[in-house]
This record gives sequence, C-alpha cells and structure tokens, in this order.
Amino acid sequence: MCGIIGYVGRQRALPIILDGLKNMEYRGYDSSGVAIKETSGKIKAIKAVGPLLNLEEKISDNNFEGSTGIGHVRWATHGGVTEKNSHPHMDCKRKIWVVHNGIIENYQELKAQLLKKGHKFQSETDTEVLAHLIEEKLKTNNYQEAVRLALKEVRGTYGVAVLNQDEPEKIIAARNFSPLLLGVGEGECFVASDASAILKHTTKVVYLDDGELAVLTPKGHAVYDLGRNLRDKKTHHLEWSLEKTQKNGFPHFMLKEIFEQPEAIANSIRGRLLPEEGLVKLGASEDLKKVKRILIAACGTAYLSGKVGEYMLEEYAGIPVEVDLASEFRYRKPVFQKGDAFLVISQSGETADTLAALREAKEKNVLTLGVVNVIGSTLAREAGLGVYQHIGPEIGVASTKAFTSQLTILALLTILFGRSRDMSVITGQRIVKEIKKIPHLIQTVLKQDAAIKKLAKKYNHFNNFLYLGRKYNLPIAYEGALKLKEISYVHAEGYGAGEMKHGPIAMIDENLPSIFIVPQDSVYEKTISNIEEVRARKGPIIAIATEGDKKITRLADDVIYIPKTLEMLTPILSVVPLQLFAYHFGVARGYNVDRPRNLAKSVTVE
Ligand code: F6R
Repeated sequence: MCGIIGYVGRQRALPIILDGLKNMEYRGYDSSGVAIKETSGKIKAIKAVGPLLNLEEKISDNNFEGSTGIGHVRWATHGGVTEKNSHPHMDCKRKIWVVHNGIIENYQELKAQLLKKGHKFQSETDTEVLAHLIEEKLKTNNYQEAVRLALKEVRGTYGVAVLNQDEPEKIIAARNFSPLLLGVGEGECFVASDASAILKHTTKVVYLDDGELAVLTPKGHAVYDLGRNLRDKKTHHLEWSLEKTQKNGFPHFMLKEIFEQPEAIANSIRGRLLPEEGLVKLGASEDLKKVKRILIAACGTAYLSGKVGEYMLEEYAGIPVEVDLASEFRYRKPVFQKGDAFLVISQSGETADTLAALREAKEKNVLTLGVVNVIGSTLAREAGLGVYQHIGPEIGVASTKAFTSQLTILALLTILFGRSRDMSVITGQRIVKEIKKIPHLIQTVLKQDAAIKKLAKKYNHFNNFLYLGRKYNLPIAYEGALKLKEISYVHAEGYGAGEMKHGPIAMIDENLPSIFIVPQDSVYEKTISNIEEVRARKGPIIAIATEGDKKITRLADDVIYIPKTLEMLTPILSVVPLQLFAYHFGVARGYNVDRPRNLAKSVTVE
C-alpha cells in the first residue's frame, strides 16, 4: 500500500533508492518516482506510470549524482494512475518534495485554504497538500518546525519523507498509522516503509511510533514527538537475511514461498513443542488461564486462518470463539465480556483495519494477543501478548506460507488453551506429535507440483469455479477461491458443501467445475453425498482427498491426494494444492502472479 524510502549519506542515492523500491514494489506498482538533491544544488525528480521497470528505463543513470534523495512506489488511492499523480509531490517553488504512504483525510479542506493563499496544485492527490502546507509554514518557521506544524494540521495516516532544496543533507520523516523505520548506517541514514528496502545496507533499525518525527542526516538521526520533545529510541537488529528477500531461482516469489512452507512451519514451531508433556511453550502468561472467550479479528487470508482456529479452539480447548472481519469489527459495536481475550492475526502486522480493531479492544481493557510475522511491526508492538510466526519475509502479494504458519500457531494455541482446561495429556501429546510431522507431510504434497500444473492447464479455459468444503475445510474452500480470484482474475466462489444445495447448485452444469476438499475426516461421507449431487448434474469435479481413498476416484474427474493427519490439521495440507493450482492457473493465463492488479501486500488504509 505504497512504499517510501529516503537516503542521506555519502554514496550516490539513486541506486540505493531504486534497489529499495524494487524490494518494496509489492506494496504498490501503479507508478513510481524519485527526487534527488543534486550536486548542482537543485532537486531533480523523475516519475513513471506502471511498474518500476518503466522508471528505470526512463532514468539516464548519469543524470543523478546526489547523495540525498527520496523515492516512492504507488498504490493509487486519491487521483488516477497518472504521472502527475505519482510521487514525489512538490510545492510551488519545486523546493519541498514529499513521498507519502497513507491518506490525508482533510486534504480537501486544506487544499481549499491553500488555493485561497495562491498555491498552485499539479496533481489530484491528497499528498500534494502536505508539500504546499510545509511551504506555507516555512514563510515564518525553520524547516523542522514547518514540517511539524504542517503535520499538526493534517488529519489521517502517513508515513512521510520530506526533502528540502535549501537544507542539503537532511531528510525529515514522520509517521502516523503507516509503518516507517529508520536504518542506521556508518555516515548514512535511511528511512523506509519496510525493512526489506534497506536490509542490504544495514540491519540496525529504529521503529518510529505514531506521532513521531525524525530528522536524518549523514551524522545520524534524532526523533521527536510532535510537541518537539526529543525521544529516546531503541535500536533493533533485524533477523531477516538479504537472501530471504530474493527469489533464489524460482520464477516467482509466490512459488518460492509455497515451496518454503515446510521450512516456514518448522521455524514457527521450533522450540515451542513439548512432546513428552503434550504441551507447548509460547511464553504464556497466567492471564490466559482466566480467558473464557476468544474474539479473533483479521483480514483476508489471515481472517480465514482465524476461521479454522475457531473450529480447533472450540473442539479441542472447549473455549467459545468468535471470528470477525477486522474491517467490520469496530462498526458493529462489539460487546466485550469479563474473561474475553482478543486475538489479531496479521502477516504484515500493519493492516489498518486489524490495527484499528486491536486498538478498539485495548481501549476497552480487553486482554490482547497477536499472531504476527513482521518483527517490530505496529501490531506486534501493540498487542499485549504475541506469538511471532518466524517465517521470514512474505513478498508474493498472495499470502501462502503465512497462512499455513498461522494455522500451525493456532493449533499451538489450541494446545495451550486446551491443556490449561480439560484437554488430556494424551490428546495434547497426539496433537504435538502430528504437528511435528507437518513440515514433512507438506513436502509430499509439494511433490505433486507437476501434476497440479497439468490440471491448472487442463481447466484453464473455465471462467468460473466453485470451491466446496465442510467443517475444518470450509475456510479452506474460501481460501482456495480467494487465491484463484486474486491472481487469475477468474470468478471463484467458496461455499459450504452442505449449503450448496440451498442456492449455488442451480448454477451447476458442465461449464462450472467444483473443487471439493474432501479428506477422510468426520464429515467425509456427508461431503461425498454433496459430490454425488454435483456429479448428477454433470459438473466437472476436482477433489482434494486423502491418500488411499479409492471411492473418490470413481466420483471425481481429477484427484489430488494429501497425506493423512489429524482432522484439525488437514487444512494445513489441503490448502497447499489449492495454492499451487491458483499459481499455475494464473501463470498459464500469462499474469504476473506476484503483482496481481489492484492489490497491495500491506493494506495500510481502511
Ligand atoms: C490474500 C492476502 C490478503 C491478506 C490480508 C491481511 O492472499 O494476502 O487477503 O491476508 O490483506 O494481511 P495481513 O496478514 O498482513 O494483515
């Protein structure tokens, strides 16, 4: 959802900025731009519509020698996808340049005031008002104070970096509800929306908090609140390696991340399983024992992991669970009760709706928990108790390894909550034992990649799909459909296999394939009956079934097998063929599956 970067130091800024933008392109690829303070003393900017490659082609390398600059990749919110609306945006005198991630909600009001004062606008964006507002404040204040005063008038969200032609070797950055971190180097300083943008240069970072403003120079950084008070900020060391942000021979990040799942899950469970005791170690607090109900809020794929978690926690821990779309949670006036715990799930840890839901719960003094991947992200810092996923960066826009890791961690939480209630040692031991096997079992599913690719080609001419499942695999039907929709732009609908006869069955004919998730679990026979219903109406059928299931070969046109595991863990296996199917389907249609149109990896606007 837009990525910003800034560099101030002794090296040429342009290659550093372009490289950083490349690593953040998943945040937005509608357009991109850079502004560099040149040795001539002037700030020069260049922008291009479309992927970053278009900007790189436009840049004649020798033209940019300066060692202070800012850059941006855009996911359009206000104003169409045009060069004029691309960042960086500037003031009337082309002296103040701004890159921004977020939304300035009162921009129309501010723009009207600035227009009255004679400011001339070039774009339709909300961001441009900030450049003009700073210009206005500069008439009577120094640079830092002008930025501070301008930000005090802004309502909305921002991760912002500002360059001023009259203040060489200085960048001012600020954050409010949009992620931003500083990179600390030797004689150089960085600012970026995402650590992957600066990982090549430094692993020392400072996370900015909401309402903080940072001044960056080659000598270092200073962070203030918007009341001008100096803040004492901690420097953190990043765990992620540069290698993890590369494709390592895979054609796409999505495929690499699908194949990384065994390792990712092994990392999510490392040091957390106690097989003998049938327990898990999650640094739990005593407070968890008093929890009587769990409310879960998340978005998209993370929300669907929560839906699987609901089945796990209710069945095995005997604890009532409610799962909400984070975007709905705040608006339905949720009723909290004594003994509630509020759990947020988020790969990025920056999803605006999830963050807003968490803050709502915190305001009501509810115990909060987070399952988050990105270390130091806002959700990770704000959730009361947290479990990190430890899966390394997920760069493909369609979430894959984050999902299976979230399911695994929810299984760990089920043991944690279950064992502090009625779950027996034997049940705990059985679940722990099966979780340990999951990385290996996923390997066996991945071995069917070539066969799944063939299927994706065979079914590539269809433009509508139904994904059907029951119980633990109902959320997987939704997730399979979501994956196909987002990377191949094909209509796919996830539905309860048992619910299908109450409506969607009317659509079934030879032109509507159904993908059934039908492992040999407690609802197997019921799902088989639903398959018969589709077969009777000539609908093509693909089944995701348990190894050794002979019956299914008579009913389905094509079968993909997954190994046997505990029913509650089947979603971790059954989703993998669906990820591969969607991946190969999208590739066969000629799409860049890592950059699905209209989407962004980290949705930092509500
Ligand atoms: C779908 C997908 C999204 C995210 C959602 C939440 O493949 O990636 O639906 O799951 O935007 O993102 P996080 O987990 O970062 O909060």
